[in-house]
Amino acid sequence: MCGIVGYIGNQDAKEILLKGLEKLEYRGYDSAGIALSNGEGVQVFKEKGRIADLRNIVDEEVFAPAGIGHTRWATHGVPSRLNAHPHKSASERFTIVHNGVIENYDLLKKEYLADSTLKSDTDTEVVVQLIEHFVEAGSDVKAAFVQTLKLLKGSYAFALLDEQNKDVIYVAKNKSPLLIGLGESFNVIASDAMAMLQVTDQYVELVDKEIVIVTKDSVTIETLEGEIISREAYTAELDASDIEKGTYPHYMLKEIDEQPVAIRKIIQEYQDKDGKLTIDPAIVEAVNAADRLYIVAAGTSYHAGLLGKQFIEKLAKIPVEVHVASEFSYNMPLLSEKPLFIFITQSGETADSRAVLVQVKEMGYPTLTITNVPGSTLSREADHTLLLYAGPEIAVASTKAYTSQMAVLSILAEVMAKSKGYDVDLDLIHELGIIANAMEVIFEDKEELEAIAKEYLETSRNAFFIGRGIDYYVGLEGALKLKEISYIQAEGFAGGELKHGTIALIEDGTPIIALATQESVNLSIRGNVKEVVARGANPCIISMKGLEMDGDRYIVPAVHDLLTPLISVVPLQLIAYYAALHRGCDVDKPRNLAKSVTVE
Ligand code: F6R
Repeated sequence: MCGIVGYIGNQDAKEILLKGLEKLEYRGYDSAGIALSNGEGVQVFKEKGRIADLRNIVDEEVFAPAGIGHTRWATHGVPSRLNAHPHKSASERFTIVHNGVIENYDLLKKEYLADSTLKSDTDTEVVVQLIEHFVEAGSDVKAAFVQTLKLLKGSYAFALLDEQNKDVIYVAKNKSPLLIGLGESFNVIASDAMAMLQVTDQYVELVDKEIVIVTKDSVTIETLEGEIISREAYTAELDASDIEKGTYPHYMLKEIDEQPVAIRKIIQEYQDKDGKLTIDPAIVEAVNAADRLYIVAAGTSYHAGLLGKQFIEKLAKIPVEVHVASEFSYNMPLLSEKPLFIFITQSGETADSRAVLVQVKEMGYPTLTITNVPGSTLSREADHTLLLYAGPEIAVASTKAYTSQMAVLSILAEVMAKSKGYDVDLDLIHELGIIANAMEVIFEDKEELEAIAKEYLETSRNAFFIGRGIDYYVGLEGALKLKEISYIQAEGFAGGELKHGTIALIEDGTPIIALATQESVNLSIRGNVKEVVARGANPCIISMKGLEMDGDRYIVPAVHDLLTPLISVVPLQLIAYYAALHRGCDVDKPRNLAKSVTVE
């Protein structure tokens, strides 16, 4: 949540910062701002809304070789110009941008800033005032920054400008992601390497509780205790074209279309030279040493986890529990003797999941992160990582990461089953290949799926997704996709559960999207459809070739029974996309959301 950037060098910072913020908009898009520093003062431009709105108010005439920028997902204070970052200290000497949440800001305000008036409702303004407070009390700027950081509880990535020293940007990080990008006679700061790929592919990772003094020619990393840290840069293996929309109207559509490529890439990455599926032997050993796996995730990744449990239990016969990350610490289950924790996270940055990772690591348990982002916080901090290889996912609604998560989980299940000596009646490489082809077949039906979205969802205020067995889990994901981008109230239910309450909501014309891809429950889910039709519902049955019946609205190609979720979700993604489009919604940047949820 929230993205920050910074630049210090010889060029004009303005455009570099604005372009960087455009790439970070997925992290929040309530308001945005930049501060430009050129020795004649620090000028702040900020606006409610998108980066495009910010661009309209930035003074083209200002030349500044240093600056910082921010795109916001509001936590403290409504989205407004006043609450937008950057924030200045009372004397206007210091200017700061912040990604994170300072939990004790109110206490600090009362203790240190009782006589100050704050202009905004943000926790961030307290921080910049505190820095000024310590400078006024006699500390130099770096010491005042460290003094302040030592008082803070919560998460932060900060970039700080001092009007009296245009040659330095002060940076610090705790829990929120932050990188320093290196260049010839310039350096940059970014929440995500994507933002600054335009100027460099060389990055240095920061670790929690470090501060960094960045000038155009140097980057000095120190701990809060003043110990200098030396750390090698790495090359960001990102292709700038991966993060462009190209000819697509929306990232979401592009990313839906990229799913077959992602599946094929996963097959390739997890194949050994003899053409067999393989994963890091250390992971196999860790899973084999566990008596129970605990999958922890949020949102779409949680839905992938529910299916991962099916794959792992059915193929490898290892018991698996799946937990919502944000609830885990309150409702911690009784753990088995030898648990292994698996974190599924597209971004690798989700604060709820990371909080569990930190907790279980402290308890001494082994951990594995399944993520799309190498070098992300959860990847770095877990003992092991399995990568998704899906390429950057920019649209807020996750699509290709979800199917990639399932593909990687199926590979983990298969490899584990084989390592235990079980017969696996499934040629997974072949079946995943069939999945990739079947996805392409579905793409040929986009017009049909658009027609379904118009027919069922153009004006509807709610919709229900039902399924039994693994179709139920896909229904949960279909409902999440629809509600988050079209704002239709959509819920997924187990087919048999409807009659225990939810059926009361069925009215004339209520859309019911029913999934029927499992032979074992094909008749019973159709029975549930009949129950709701008898009460006026408008049914849209999505079935699989070979199980279809008269009146089914859409039929996906036949794939292996266990892997149907990788296919049946695709029409649901496209239906959600077209429903949002026809309702005039901002498909890639739905209201109130952000791609990377870095607050708990
Ligand atoms: C929905 C969506 C979210 C994420 C969730 C977890 O389309 O994208 O529900 O799945 O915020 O994010 P990650 O996977 O990055 O941990």
